Amino acid sequence: MTSQTDVIEAFAPAKINLFLHVGDKRSDGFHDLESLAVFVDVGDTLAFSPSPELSLALDGPFANGLEAEGDNLVLRAAQALAKHIGRPATAAIRLTKKLPVASGIGGGSADAAAVLRGLTRLWALDLSWTELRVVAETIGSDVPVCVECKSSWMEGRGERVTPSATLPQMPMLLVNPGIAVSTKDVFRALAMRHGTGSINRATSLSSPPELIAFLKKAANDLQPSAQQIAPVIGHVLDELARMPGVELWRMSGSGATCFALFDDQNSAKVAEVALSHTHPDWWVRATRIGS
Ligand code: C5P
Repeated sequence: MTSQTDVIEAFAPAKINLFLHVGDKRSDGFHDLESLAVFVDVGDTLAFSPSPELSLALDGPFANGLEAEGDNLVLRAAQALAKHIGRPATAAIRLTKKLPVASGIGGGSADAAAVLRGLTRLWALDLSWTELRVVAETIGSDVPVCVECKSSWMEGRGERVTPSATLPQMPMLLVNPGIAVSTKDVFRALAMRHGTGSINRATSLSSPPELIAFLKKAANDLQPSAQQIAPVIGHVLDELARMPGVELWRMSGSGATCFALFDDQNSAKVAEVALSHTHPDWWVRATRIGS
């Protein structure tokens, strides 16, 4: 019987790409990219308990979106870690899905990374972050950055992760219009792109005006193609643009979730209430970036 003390919990925070520049398509089919990823206090929660088999139980507001997916990243992460260390993948995992599925904020990748952290503890493994990132890379391009959940530059196909300098605290609003967008389809429809290497990473980003000025010179290259596939993304961005106190609005990852940065917490809260009221079918969450 599992006692309460045997249960290990892990938080899988949403990952937001403040900008995302896409370079050339490589021989492995992936694109080179450059991005600045940050993590917020909104996310999924996972619980791990000892079990003779590997099992996954789902609950939470977005559990239904996942049940349709046969190839769940959580199970793949458990199997990848077990294979890496040469032991059976045995654990009872519960995922409470609070983030919208296939939404550009790394929900599945954050869950997979949380599995690596959770099972490292459950199985009493002694693995470094570097080793966990190596396993993470086999699961998906966005999983390595979610291992430590620190603000980081992403390069390569996303797997080359370098922690960024401390970013300023800024209120953020996340908005998802309730449609799942396929990352593969968005990359396939890619049009104009900045390429990699145009960003000056030595720029100081320690104050809100510095960060906003830096981000305004960058973009999310996946935004136009995602918007073409899901025109509602344009509607979300228009709505964010007209919120009082907004400093920057943009899509994250391959969408459809968009974010806005605000100059004060009250403006972000007011925007959260306003958009939740006018679009009750949208997922709207006020949060903050920076440590
Ligand atoms: O690595 P992940 O499974 O998240 O990627 C999903 C799809 O997105 C890939 O199969 C590929 O088509 C596309 N992709 C890409 N370049 C990247 C990351 C993803 O072309 N750097």
